[in-house]
Amino acid sequence: MLAPLWLLSLSLPTLWAQILIRCAYKSLCQQALVSGNDVVLQCDYPKSLWYFSSILGEDPFLLSSMPNIKKLPGGSLQLTNPQPSQTGLYHCQDSDNALVVEYEIDFQDVNTLHITHKGLGQKPLQNETLSLGGHVLIFTQWEPWQDCNRCGEPGERKRLGYCYVEEPLEKAMPCWLYLRAEKARSSRLRPELQVEACLVPCEHVKETNQPYFIFDIYQLDKMTNTMWLTCPLASIYR
Ligand SMILES: *[C@@H]1O[C@H](CO)[C@@H](O)[C@H](O)[C@H]1NC(C)=O
Repeated sequence: MLAPLWLLSLSLPTLWAQILIRCAYKSLCQQALVSGNDVVLQCDYPKSLWYFSSILGEDPFLLSSMPNIKKLPGGSLQLTNPQPSQTGLYHCQDSDNALVVEYEIDFQDVNTLHITHKGLGQKPLQNETLSLGGHVLIFTQWEPWQDCNRCGEPGERKRLGYCYVEEPLEKAMPCWLYLRAEKARSSRLRPELQVEACLVPCEHVKETNQPYFIFDIYQLDKMTNTMWLTCPLASIYR
């Protein structure tokens, strides 16, 4: 089982390893994500033109030659290791300059992620009000729990939570799409990750051998006390 899967994963582009952000035709979708994790913004128009303007509100510019951004053959936009500075409006149009789809993405800084484990009694962040002209509420909007990392034995699962701001009677918005150029200093303004224990039975139709790679073999040096391990194709969204 392992060998064919391994070949398959080499022959496919790394698309399957990334999450695809979708939005209905001619619509604008707002979404919070975390920086440092690859995503693809969908636009099903092969000759698409993508424009970007950041939250600082400069004029939109054509995205063609940014080092971590690539237009895929089908028209979608691939962002590799996106940064908080890439928070803003992504506009996809057709060759007649008509809107196909627009995304307002808040890439929340993965370096400020507040990580807690339920089983260790660690508490997620509390709601907080912030005074910005009026009072606004800062809270965490949680995603659903992700799959358990094991089956048939105790495992762990995680969920992501994004920083959102809510004004009285208004729809909540991702924090940095709300704040824009405004400088607000609060340690509450950060995304979260929560972990908990899980125990799920194995569903044999779903369980396939996962492909794995050995990229390198490295001898730990006794003198080096810190080390950075990168897991290729890993994503915080899965
Ligand atoms: C925090 O605020 C959100 C959004 O208004 C609300 O849904 C949630 O229940 C609040 N949580 C607590 C603990 O008050």
